[in-house]
Amino acid sequence: MPGLAIKDGLIRHPFDLEFGVRTSGLVAGRNLAPGLRNGRYMTAYYAVAPSVFQGILARWRSCHAVAPLDAYTFIDLGAGMGRAMLLAANYPFRKVIGVELHPTLARIGRKNLALWRAAGRALAPTRMYCRDAATLSLPSGPCVAFLFNPFTAPVLRRLLRAWSQTLSEQRHGQLDILYVNNEREQVLKCQPGFERLFAGRIRRSHEDAEADRNILTHQPDGEYLAMNWEDCSIYRWTGKRITD
Ligand SMILES: C[S@@+](CC[C@H](N)C(=O)[O-])C[C@H]1O[C@@H](n2cnc3c(N)ncnc32)[C@H](O)[C@@H]1O
Repeated sequence: MPGLAIKDGLIRHPFDLEFGVRTSGLVAGRNLAPGLRNGRYMTAYYAVAPSVFQGILARWRSCHAVAPLDAYTFIDLGAGMGRAMLLAANYPFRKVIGVELHPTLARIGRKNLALWRAAGRALAPTRMYCRDAATLSLPSGPCVAFLFNPFTAPVLRRLLRAWSQTLSEQRHGQLDILYVNNEREQVLKCQPGFERLFAGRIRRSHEDAEADRNILTHQPDGEYLAMNWEDCSIYRWTGKRITD
């Protein structure tokens, strides 16, 4: 796949070198999309900077979660090769699930998760599904969904509408959404029942900033910008604008 070969500018991120996994690469949406339903709404494959992941998780944990961490299911919507799932599995979540539309990325992600488990790093059970996130039913119990700008507005809107319907039918449904590189923030803002708990920049560590700059400088078409931070937001389902 273009974007996953050295000739296409692939440089391994220090995360992969340290842990012996394969999550590096930058694949434009147009190279992922062919033949996939909802493929035209894909943005790109690129793995989240570990420091940004840890930053948004720490923010979320300071937002007075409604249940202990081990009651939550962590869901990565657009899980790619699973870097965010690996990082999430370092925490004792009830389970960590990922949904990835592209079969090659999902297959690599499963291998990475197996390596993580074999190395004794996974504190939570993990499962990678190869399917369209737009059709994923919300798991029961408290959930925290993670999005690293995986798809454009039509898919996000469809998913949020379906999950809002489910949550408004449940009495005790709990859902928080962690949105990194929140380009389609407006969709969440307009979705009744969600309240924004945080909006701001989360900085990359020096090591991640340097690695991402290096990777993005070598991209063949120069279409993605390297920055020292990600614009992020955190939302919580309160159901208020529906039930009040
Ligand atoms: C920016 S990458 C994020 C990868 C991963 N979450 C991480 O942070 O390391 C976005 C991923 O979303 C996937 N994706 C896009 N649309 C999707 C959809 N409708 N259903 C499932 N996955 C999708 C892409 O194939 C890509 O791997």
